[in-house]
Amino acid sequence: MDRVRFAIVGCGEIAVATAEGIAAAAHAALSMAMDTVQSLAQDLAHRFGGRATTNFEEVLTSPDVDAVYIATPHYLHAPMAIAAAQAGKHVLLEKPIATNVADAKAIISHCEAEGVTLGIAFLAQVDQACQEVRRLLAEGAIGEVVGVRYAVLADKPAHYWRGGYTQRVQTDWRGSKAKAGGGILIMNLIHNFNAVRFLTGLEATRVYGEYGTYSTPVEVEDLVFATVRYHNGAIGCVEGGSAVRGGAAGADGDRIFGTEGQVVLGREVRVYSASGAAGLPAGEWTTMTPDQPAVRARLVEEFALAVLNGEQPPVTGYDGLKALEIVEGIYRSGELCQPVYLPL
Ligand SMILES: NC(=O)c1ccc[n+]([C@@H]2O[C@H](COP(=O)([O-])OP(=O)(O)OC[C@H]3O[C@@H](n4cnc5c(N)ncnc54)[C@H](O)[C@@H]3O)[C@@H](O)[C@H]2O)c1
Repeated sequence: MDRVRFAIVGCGEIAVATAEGIAAAAHAALSMAMDTVQSLAQDLAHRFGGRATTNFEEVLTSPDVDAVYIATPHYLHAPMAIAAAQAGKHVLLEKPIATNVADAKAIISHCEAEGVTLGIAFLAQVDQACQEVRRLLAEGAIGEVVGVRYAVLADKPAHYWRGGYTQRVQTDWRGSKAKAGGGILIMNLIHNFNAVRFLTGLEATRVYGEYGTYSTPVEVEDLVFATVRYHNGAIGCVEGGSAVRGGAAGADGDRIFGTEGQVVLGREVRVYSASGAAGLPAGEWTTMTPDQPAVRARLVEEFALAVLNGEQPPVTGYDGLKALEIVEGIYRSGELCQPVYLPL
């Protein structure tokens, strides 16, 4: 086998970008596109190859499917990933790994028991700028990490809640606590938690959160603030909103603060090193541009190579679990009005 043959399960908004990634990846091919909405499955099969189906069982029993890429609403991630693993299919699963930590652990243990590869569709691990920043931090470019600021300040349009940004699918799951698991925290900030963990190696040990729904007619939170404590003693703050009218106004983007410098993670990635460690110019900012266009092809390619070579994928189920732990910890903390200790 020189190519991993994928079935796409859930042919909505993000599946289009991943189908393009499968088409561009040297060691991947599309065998099947599955969605309960026939026209969406047919659209991807027509554009990217393979056959269309509305029947998930057909995906599980097809011998020409080696791996499933699951891009369905969040509450379906756990049952679909576990069913795929039990059918012997490798699993590339969209974020969040699940709506809760217990389900995430069940997915990981089923995939381990069945001997299939489990990957999560976070992008930091396959983004070249993030890989470079990780190397710089490991070489001491900003000294010891003492703080993190997470900020996702979005002004999501009303139509987002009915059909995402593209309106490819008319649906209600994004605003449903049961179907999505939450709002801006589990939908967006989870990427940031994963990215900072990848860049710094820091593990969160305690969170305290407050959140609510203020400006949007949905069940999930549209504003969240939280603090985080890390295993090395570093501290972090989380600011997230999906109804921040006017948006970030230039103030978006995470920051990693070190004893000798800082990193700004925005559309551009910028690193400042006071000491000039890791080969950086002392006392100056260095700018790197994330390579977004190629990043999904790289995610698919590295997952496929991991399957073919029997190696760990670039983003593991454990990575998915650790990012979700921060999310669930903040939700629990907000409900309990208490700090919550991690791991859960
Ligand atoms: N990694 C990223 O950067 C990124 C970006 C956007 C979305 N996502 C994630 O991708 C997933 C999907 O998001 P989306 O924006 O594409 O949503 P979407 O609503 O546009 O698409 C979901 C698709 O799943 C289909 N579906 C629903 N129930 C199904 C079932 N039982 N069997 C098969 N298909 C079913 C729907 O018909 C729809 O086509 C979510 O987990 C989301 O968080 C990831």
